[in-house]
Amino acid sequence: MGHRFFVNGDPVEVEVPGMRRLLDVLREDLGLTGTKEGCGEGECGACSVLLDGAVVDSCLVPVCQVSGTSVRTVEGLADGERLNDLQAAFLEAGGAQCGICTPGMLMAAEAYLAAGGGQDEDAIREAIAGNLCRCTGYTKIIDAIALAADRRLRADPH
Ligand code: FES
Ligand code: FES
Repeated sequence: MGHRFFVNGDPVEVEVPGMRRLLDVLREDLGLTGTKEGCGEGECGACSVLLDGAVVDSCLVPVCQVSGTSVRTVEGLADGERLNDLQAAFLEAGGAQCGICTPGMLMAAEAYLAAGGGQDEDAIREAIAGNLCRCTGYTKIIDAIALAADRRLRADPH
């Protein structure tokens, strides 16, 4: 029997063994290669996606656990060719270098912003604590997230 769930708002069904990693289902079965594999062991966060809004390491999640849920990947951030505000801030602040960590970083940051996260550096560091970057030293990534947080809060103050 297939596993049915939603990816970036679209219903999908995949006929694969239940223990197949969500990461492989996304990349290989659904062709969504934006999600990256780093360690494959739950250590680096390169494979982070949102599962019903929560950040998970897709290399650790068997697809059987995803049935009925809503998955959001980096492909779900942009609107066609138009980057979303967070992606634009990464570009502006130079938060991406080699780019391997970037999709996962964006998803962790998106969850942080969706929860109403602000510009506080410590809070941002905590939000991306599970996402390793070997290029940027994190400063530009934190700047990018703070920039996006500021703009989102200005656009929709609570
Ligand atoms: S590839 Fe999943 S946490 Fe590193
Ligand atoms: S930009 Fe290269 S690992 Fe983060």
